[in-house]
Amino acid sequence: MRRAIDLAKLGWFTTHPNPRVGCVIADGDRVVGEGWHHVAGAAHAEVLALRQAGASARGATAYVTLEPHSFHGKTPPCTHALIDAGVARVVCGTLDPNPKVQGEGIRQLQEAGVSTFVGLLEADARALNLGFDKRMRTGLPRIIVKVAASLDGRVALASGESRWITSEEARADVQRLRASASAVLTGVGTVIADDPRLNVRDPSIDLGPRGLLRVVLDTRLRTPANARMFDTAGPVLIATCESSAGEHADGLRRAGAELLEVSADAVRGVDIGQVLRELGRRECNDVLVEAGPTLAARFLSLDLCDELIVYYAPKLLGHDAKPMFELPRIERLQDGLQFQLSGAEVIGPDLKVTLVR
Ligand SMILES: NC(=O)c1ccc[n+]([C@@H]2O[C@H](COP(=O)([O-])OP(=O)(O)OC[C@H]3O[C@@H](n4cnc5c(N)ncnc54)[C@H](OP(=O)(O)O)[C@@H]3O)[C@@H](O)[C@H]2O)c1
Repeated sequence: MRRAIDLAKLGWFTTHPNPRVGCVIADGDRVVGEGWHHVAGAAHAEVLALRQAGASARGATAYVTLEPHSFHGKTPPCTHALIDAGVARVVCGTLDPNPKVQGEGIRQLQEAGVSTFVGLLEADARALNLGFDKRMRTGLPRIIVKVAASLDGRVALASGESRWITSEEARADVQRLRASASAVLTGVGTVIADDPRLNVRDPSIDLGPRGLLRVVLDTRLRTPANARMFDTAGPVLIATCESSAGEHADGLRRAGAELLEVSADAVRGVDIGQVLRELGRRECNDVLVEAGPTLAARFLSLDLCDELIVYYAPKLLGHDAKPMFELPRIERLQDGLQFQLSGAEVIGPDLKVTLVR
């Protein structure tokens, strides 16, 4: 299973909207087949491993990180392939949260006389697909809010200058975060201040045939039609409360944007819930929020952040620089937003801190 998990990770940047899955077929302690899911629509991990194993699959054990799927989707059910190949035992890391599967794969295998076990290295197997898991259970993507800050929690100078607070190494790590996500989301404030491309530029990262969706929350359609996001490959979705019929809207569309008209929320910004439901409908598993203090704070105060990642640079920018989050005033200490530390890592000269609610 450890090897199957490592194989699944080879599809880390490419399987979206599908889950990352790895499979090892072993006859006793001899590995006879290995496979991992590369891209949606292509063969599943089990099928590739069975292909490699050939006749040796008969009577063998298949170790799969995720319960084999049991329905006809873009590819035929993997349960059938395992049964037809004569596999004697299937060991899964975790059940498939997809409502179309959810134990049905295991049931089909057992019915065909294949012995099964679920839950080997379960936490590691689940960690492969946190976004997929959440989307399958709730219809919503998993939200990761990422911030690059100084040691005193500042993300830009009062002038707006923020390039670069953190090191090249930290920014390279952000490239991998982006590539792991289905979409990167920001606010129009950041588009106007920084004109970011929000794309994956690291030549060593291959996203496969999928494009990375960039999403801008822009209530009054202030995104400039010559924003640098439009110069780079990949779709751009602008969620706005403005009519998408005007001249500026046409210019944005010509530049390559898709406009999504949404309602305003209670504070007259774009209704984030509506945007997230739409991203879930578009099969986004993980959404990386790379916004300024206004929008990032909205995600936190609406309790929409599943994971917070802060890159701290060992420098101080002073109290008039912009804070990480423009949160409403908190009167009592016990009302502070509480996180749990889930990881800390030194990246070049910086510190990467990962937190969950
Ligand atoms: N260090 C970092 O990690 C980092 C990352 C990004 C940005 N920054 C810095 O942050 C600064 C920009 O800050 P910012 O706060 O203006 O940027 P922002 O948070 O990215 O954008 C805020 C804008 O988003 C729009 N918006 C639409 N719907 C919203 C909603 N529901 N809730 C909140 N906002 C919504 C609002 O403008 P409308 O009302 O017009 O729609 C709002 O003013 C720049 O100086 C930039 O350099 C730093």
